[in-house]
Amino acid sequence: MVVQPRIRGFICTTAHPVGCAQHVQQQIDCVLQKGPVKGGPGKVLVIGASTGYGLSSRITAAFGSGAATLGVFFEKSSDGKRTATAGWYNSAAFETAARARGLYARSVNGDAFSDDIKRQVVDIIKKDLGQVDMVVYSLASPRRVHPVTGETFRSTLKPIEGRYTNKSFDFEKNEVTEVSLEQSSEDEVRQTVAVMGGEDWGMWIDLLSAEGLLAPGCLTVAYSYIGPRVTQPIYRQGTIGAAKDHLEATACQLDKKMSAIGGRAFVSVNKALVTQASSAIPFISLYIVLLMKVMKEKQLHEGCIEQVVRLFHERLYGRKRDEIPVDEQGRVRVDDWELREDVQKEVEAMWNAVTTLNANQFGGVDSYNREFLKLFGFGLSAVDYNADVNIEVGIEGVA
Ligand code: NAI
Repeated sequence: MVVQPRIRGFICTTAHPVGCAQHVQQQIDCVLQKGPVKGGPGKVLVIGASTGYGLSSRITAAFGSGAATLGVFFEKSSDGKRTATAGWYNSAAFETAARARGLYARSVNGDAFSDDIKRQVVDIIKKDLGQVDMVVYSLASPRRVHPVTGETFRSTLKPIEGRYTNKSFDFEKNEVTEVSLEQSSEDEVRQTVAVMGGEDWGMWIDLLSAEGLLAPGCLTVAYSYIGPRVTQPIYRQGTIGAAKDHLEATACQLDKKMSAIGGRAFVSVNKALVTQASSAIPFISLYIVLLMKVMKEKQLHEGCIEQVVRLFHERLYGRKRDEIPVDEQGRVRVDDWELREDVQKEVEAMWNAVTTLNANQFGGVDSYNREFLKLFGFGLSAVDYNADVNIEVGIEGVA
């Protein structure tokens, strides 16, 4: 099949297997170029391993630290007519590359919030790995079925205090628009916290700990975001921010529990980047357009892989567990370059000035679109997009 991008709203419904493989390879090359992670992990469980920050974490652990990796994700394989999802092709490419290097790699495809998938993971760790010394929690999901009560929670992106109106970017129409979001209800906050807060991370760690599967000194990390003033009402002060507060509070509780085995639990605050999850958030995508432009000009730009490489090399590993640098709230920070005063000042000035008429002049829209398409394997230089490709790609080690 000849595979072309098909965009619907903020998602691309097709993915290119060869392009996704090349995108994964670029990330592997980036990790290899940086060299080995000093004192890095050896056996790693990544929950949310197929795209975005989770995929980059898996690649960094495997190719930077020679780690055996077990990845959990929720992706679709191809039915022969439709392509698989990008995360499926990414994981297939990752596993092939990892095995070619002699590294253990297995994946579990299914709902990470469910007891069933957790049990499958426990069984695989017991059988194949014995224990893990790192657990990365990088889920981004719009819904969660609670494993005990059966309630289905949906996450929303709304302000908590009053209605919020600001600029956003409509990528279909190529326009700067004004978007208004209504104040959330208490129930919407509760549901968003249930999906994107820390309860499920805590359930994973409690189960792995009860089964004796966390190695002495094990590290667990989940990803959070703070961001600039302009997105505060919708992000950090909004429903998703309430969930991130809960995730960060969970990190503190888990850190105490992990101390029993000499381990640690952290939240790492990462920078805003184009991923499938972030492209769904109004206002944030326009902010990312401008941020990318400023950070590129200042030669500070990082993608997911550069962020995670810096997290492993300069924050989490190569030092004693109690010497990992954190902010006053105990969070690891790799959003430091994004929040630099000079960067924010320029982004804010551009934010105030940007309109549909001058958006292209700012130049960030094209590069945002390129990054977005790359998530689905499109726009990579060495790929012939007119060639027939096999869309039915299998993942060898998938359960
Ligand atoms: P993403 O959408 O690229 O990746 C989400 C991953 O979760 C995928 O592997 C997907 O298969 C998996 N997943 C979703 N639902 C699942 C389920 N029910 N069961 C199993 N797997 C499931 O997301 P992204 O952006 O990498 O986000 C990961 C984390 O990083 C989130 O907590 C997000 O808030 C955080 N973060 C993201 C930033 C950004 O700008 N993208 C910035 C800072 C933090």
